[in-house]
Amino acid sequence: MTKTTNKKLLEWVDEVSAMCKPDEIVWCDGSKDEYDRLSKLMVDSGTYIRLNDDIRPNSFICRSDPADVARVEDRTYICCESKEDAGPTNNWTAPAEIKETLRGLYDGCMQGRTMFVIPYSMGPIGSPIAKIGFEITDSPYVVCNMHIMARVGTKVVEVLGDSEDFVRGIHSIGSPLTGEKQPDQPWPCNAENKYITHYPETREIWSYGSGYGGNALLGKKCHALRIASVQARDEGWMAEHMLVLKLTSPDGDVKYVAAAFPSACGKTNLAMMNPTLKGWKVETIGDDIAWMKFGEDGRLYAINPEAGFFGVAPGTSDYSNPNAMISAAKNSIFTNVALTPEGDVWWEDMKEDEPEHLVDWLRRPWAPGCGRTAAHPNARFTAPASQCPVIADEWEDPAGVPISAILFGGRRATTQPLVIEAANWQHGTFLGASMASEKTAAAAGGLGQLRFDPMAMLPFCGYHMGDYFAHWIKMGEKGGDKMPKVFYVNWFRKNTNGKWLWPGFGENSRVLKYIFERCNGTAEAREGPIGLMPADGALDLSGLDIPAEDMAELMKVDTAEWKAVVDAIREHFAKFGDKLPAELNDELNALEARLQNA
Ligand code: GTP
Ligand code: SPV
Ligand code: MN
Repeated sequence: MTKTTNKKLLEWVDEVSAMCKPDEIVWCDGSKDEYDRLSKLMVDSGTYIRLNDDIRPNSFICRSDPADVARVEDRTYICCESKEDAGPTNNWTAPAEIKETLRGLYDGCMQGRTMFVIPYSMGPIGSPIAKIGFEITDSPYVVCNMHIMARVGTKVVEVLGDSEDFVRGIHSIGSPLTGEKQPDQPWPCNAENKYITHYPETREIWSYGSGYGGNALLGKKCHALRIASVQARDEGWMAEHMLVLKLTSPDGDVKYVAAAFPSACGKTNLAMMNPTLKGWKVETIGDDIAWMKFGEDGRLYAINPEAGFFGVAPGTSDYSNPNAMISAAKNSIFTNVALTPEGDVWWEDMKEDEPEHLVDWLRRPWAPGCGRTAAHPNARFTAPASQCPVIADEWEDPAGVPISAILFGGRRATTQPLVIEAANWQHGTFLGASMASEKTAAAAGGLGQLRFDPMAMLPFCGYHMGDYFAHWIKMGEKGGDKMPKVFYVNWFRKNTNGKWLWPGFGENSRVLKYIFERCNGTAEAREGPIGLMPADGALDLSGLDIPAEDMAELMKVDTAEWKAVVDAIREHFAKFGDKLPAELNDELNALEARLQNA
């Protein structure tokens, strides 16, 4: 039992328990004992299966309900007092109104269940950049995942003391055990009634009905991005959907790079890649979220507020991402993957040979050629960051790391070249604001559909996206020539047969090397209509067997295609009305003029 005299905290916990009516309340201490006890509880209830300890020690597989497999963007709300502040890209309802609906749903929603109070810190406990939150949940699965993804436990309560500066998160799977004793589901949830709601003004999160990922692990997207982006705007820093990596050249020079790619577009992979270029080294600071603040030297410093990886499983292999495979080799949770007869996990493209028999993520027998994927496309592993073999020594440094370059990128089968560079911060902000990507399985609905996803923050910005662009411009004015250089990359261009033109993964180190050298001033670039492009020979393609016509296709900027892009961006920008910074319109007009002359 956690001892606290924090009045606001105690009152809030009392209020929530009076509303949700759980059978008991447990204050989580974050201990290994607690993790083991809850894991065993879930094995006993059928939620978990313990994997073979000889193959994957202390790890579990968990299969969800088909109605609860990804973030639900159409059920996600930013509930600030004024609708205007949520902007055109967020769902909005007045806080009082939606809270009344939710109070109705929360009433008695934890009957027959335990209510866990999870004290967590985003960022190292006690460090000046860390932020404290409490998540109340009725899901032991959420507790175990939070143990890995954030710093959880009694120490957080001690550090908070009597301060009122904490985010209050309420989460329920929305599936009480009422009436005569009935057996629980392996994955209880509420398929019909999901709400992921945020109250930036009062730093609250109320989530109902889903137990999956970003809907339920409230420290991650809800706190560290949606609530934190509002705090960042107010306090002059940045909360971004970015990986952060440490890049070391063969000479031992170090640069730190951040990259904003939309969900399931390659952040985890880039953050821990093994470069194919000899002598180059990539180490991981973070794989999903970056908080960036100005340091005393005027540069932008980034920290990773998380403690673990909630990574996409399908496609992860010893070839594509060996360091993720090692990170998840033990002490990990696997959700919606397939189970092998030996008691290990499996997913698409994990190994070259497909097993002859599996149990798929829906607990059905599976064999090659049966026409279904064995794992859900948004199947995930939850693994401690400390287990990553290339985690950088400074990944928990509260001072953060100075960022030299910011990369934007997404999935674009056409149009977008392998790499371009912004002329300056304002142009870089334009590149981020006009970013588009094909939708992935990380969110429910619309797979493959091209959409604008500014700075990869479309689902995660807690306020008006036009104000968010203005905040980027303002940060640039403050940072001046100390701001990072901005690039736009695309690993996902395809040929007319639908095959990737670029090998990706470890070969992306060639683009990282070019970016490093651009930051150093040692690589040549040439001006193009949409941005600076590598000069002939600037991109190191040594030992890579790509036909010249494929390389040309990868780098191609089709003027006619881009004129259509300009029209689409104009339409996209129009949504933001007079909140769109004039600088971005200027950039769009300048792009149009350059295309006219190209
Ligand atoms: P979130 O955790 O949802 O924010 O995603 P993420 O951006 O971390 O994506 P991740 O690195 O997990 O990659 C998602 C999928 O893209 C995986 O199936 C990868 O195998 C695939 N992928 C990553 N990098 C590359 C690449 O360079 N080329 C190709 N073709 N696929 C890639
Ligand atoms: C994403 O969708 O960007 C993720 C996974 O990182 S989730 O935590 O579910 O949001
Ligand atoms: Mn993400």
